Amino acid sequence: MKQPLVKIEDVYKDYQLPKKYLFQKAPFFRALHGINLELNQGSSFGIVGESGCGKSTLARIVMALDNPTSGTVFFEGRDLFNIPSAELRHLRRNFQMVFQDPYGSLNPRKNILGIVAEPLDTLKERLSFAEKKERVSQILVEVGLNAADTDKFPHEFSGGQRQRIAIARALITRPSLIVADESVSALDVSVQAQVLNLMMDLQDKYNLTYMFISHDLSVVEYVTDHVAVIYMGQIVEQGTTKSLFQNPLHPYTQTLLRAVPDVNPLNKRREVKERIPQFEMTSKSCPFLDRCIKATKNCADNAPKLVENMGHWVACFNPDVA
Ligand SMILES: Nc1ncnc2c1ncn2[C@@H]1O[C@H](COP(=O)(O)OP(=O)(O)OP(=O)(O)O)[C@@H](O)[C@H]1O
Ligand SMILES: [Mg+2]
Repeated sequence: MKQPLVKIEDVYKDYQLPKKYLFQKAPFFRALHGINLELNQGSSFGIVGESGCGKSTLARIVMALDNPTSGTVFFEGRDLFNIPSAELRHLRRNFQMVFQDPYGSLNPRKNILGIVAEPLDTLKERLSFAEKKERVSQILVEVGLNAADTDKFPHEFSGGQRQRIAIARALITRPSLIVADESVSALDVSVQAQVLNLMMDLQDKYNLTYMFISHDLSVVEYVTDHVAVIYMGQIVEQGTTKSLFQNPLHPYTQTLLRAVPDVNPLNKRREVKERIPQFEMTSKSCPFLDRCIKATKNCADNAPKLVENMGHWVACFNPDVA
């Protein structure tokens, strides 16, 4: 079998917090708790979960912008955190990131040529000015902008167009992986659809692999083929997008899906039940214990592991099998 493009292996990330007292051991916050994932070449992998669950932390580690506390990430079989820095720099052209904010992520003082060519400069590609301009113009056309836009500045573009510029910047090094962290969240719905369609077209054309981070499940259902649901730094459900959206089994996934607005007013939305915690949470408990309507004593005493159920993987002792 072909090796996965990206293999995330048992990644933990602890953030040190400031000490309250001088001689206290520095407290830490565990943002990721043993993440294992494989992204295959050409696939589009969605990462969903509520704010603060660790999505961007995972993205930064996959991009080798931050170190994991333990565990590692393999890119094309190479351990990103155990290779010489020169090799890592060389490898960086193969993975690029697109951020959420089309206004904040582009330097307002640089023209589009400078912005889009930036990754080439960082990678120390030796190109003449004319070659660089030619490459940037080509890529601008690929993302639906004009070749002559190279001399303009970010403020001359709309939000959707700026996101196209951000995509162009990510594509300029011809990467195989693009990590898109909430890349369309700041755009209005019609522009979102255009940018998503562009990303899907580019994926077909260049056999790109996407790690697509979003809190918006309808977007994830539209663009991804696999999805992992993260709750408090742990994967609670994972599988093909089709299987997971057809048969969401984890109570948390179901809560997320219920929160998606339904455009059909005739469909009655199921109420999200408030629950009073019955069991005390310990370090051994299921992380979702205090919010779960199906929690039992077993869930308080043991954390469930991912097991296969109805064609995908779920970490729950009482999955909701319809
Ligand atoms: N540098 C840091 N130091 C301490 N804690 C951090 C740091 N960065 C992130 N965190 C914490 O780690 C957790 C995960 O953060 P992260 O940014 O990965 O969340 P997220 O899932 O991307 O959320 P959002 O959907 O709001 O972007 C949060 O509780 C956050 O407060
Ligand atoms: Mg984030």
